[in-house]
Amino acid sequence: MANLILPPRWQISERHVTPESVYRNRRAFLQQMGLLGTGLLGAAEWIHAADAPAATPPAGKYPAPRNPKFDGKGLTLSDATVTAEYNNFYEFSTSKDRVHKMVGSFTTDPWTVRIDGLCDRPRTVDARELIGEFPLEERVYRFRCVEAWAMIVPWTGFPLSRLLRSVEPKSEARFVRFTTANRPEQMPGIGRLRGYPWPYTEGLRLDEAMNDLVLVATGIYGKPLPKQNGAPLRLVVPWKYGYKSIKSIVRIELVAKQPETLWETLAPDEYPFESNVDPKVPHPRWSQASERLIDTGDRVPTLPYNGYGEQVGSLYRKS
Ligand code: MTE
Repeated sequence: MANLILPPRWQISERHVTPESVYRNRRAFLQQMGLLGTGLLGAAEWIHAADAPAATPPAGKYPAPRNPKFDGKGLTLSDATVTAEYNNFYEFSTSKDRVHKMVGSFTTDPWTVRIDGLCDRPRTVDARELIGEFPLEERVYRFRCVEAWAMIVPWTGFPLSRLLRSVEPKSEARFVRFTTANRPEQMPGIGRLRGYPWPYTEGLRLDEAMNDLVLVATGIYGKPLPKQNGAPLRLVVPWKYGYKSIKSIVRIELVAKQPETLWETLAPDEYPFESNVDPKVPHPRWSQASERLIDTGDRVPTLPYNGYGEQVGSLYRKS
């Protein structure tokens, strides 16, 4: 059991942060991160295939109309190529610039997702059917990783609250637990990080999960999600650190007790369950006061709740 608590690979100390001048050159930046990743990992990565497109979308669903409440006014979208080639998806690789090259044999269509637990109408449904069932909309959100990088992206999807309502949660349900696919044969990172408590799991309080901001994302930049970004279904919780936004979901379960999550199990002091973005609370090993935009390298102040305090602050006010 000694190797259970492996240091999460995104723990890059501030002294290793690439100088801003390098960030301005995207190629050099990605290359440097790749080298860093390899150094930390100390093992060769298997590169399965070049970027593979996600499954064919249900006809007419993309691009979806932008919700005027989340139109991104005043925000500049991040470069779409960077967001597709700079990913955290540990089931494939801890090297962010390699994930998109390793997802080729990961099958995302057909894709079954089960929504069950403490609810009156549990269901098992194919992702395509689910995507056909709800009207899709586009929302521009800020997205903030715990590693202090950030991006601004247009997600396509539907509010999680609609899906949860459709299964009719029982009154005992207090939390929602999410699980990612667990396929070591298609996800080489799982075998390499043997001490990790796979599958990747995450959780929210039920009142958080019902907040209008929480999206089940099915697309990005007006197209279906690429596999490296979590096809066919992922969560986007924009006021929390990025690890709460779990990818490639196979199960959504209503539960009574706070669920264990992969990152909290590995390092509870570093990745606690709540994990709201907060510039005043440093990570134990680096500051969270500012963040770097992944495409330009610009360093900007971190906002409380990642800028969504108006929508979610009341969830955390002590009475
Ligand atoms: N979901 C799964 N299943 N596995 C992961 O490793 N990484 C998380 C989150 N969801 C992760 C995951 C982290 S740390 C971040 S910052 C975001 O995905 C990155 O999302 P992106 O690659 O689409 O930018």
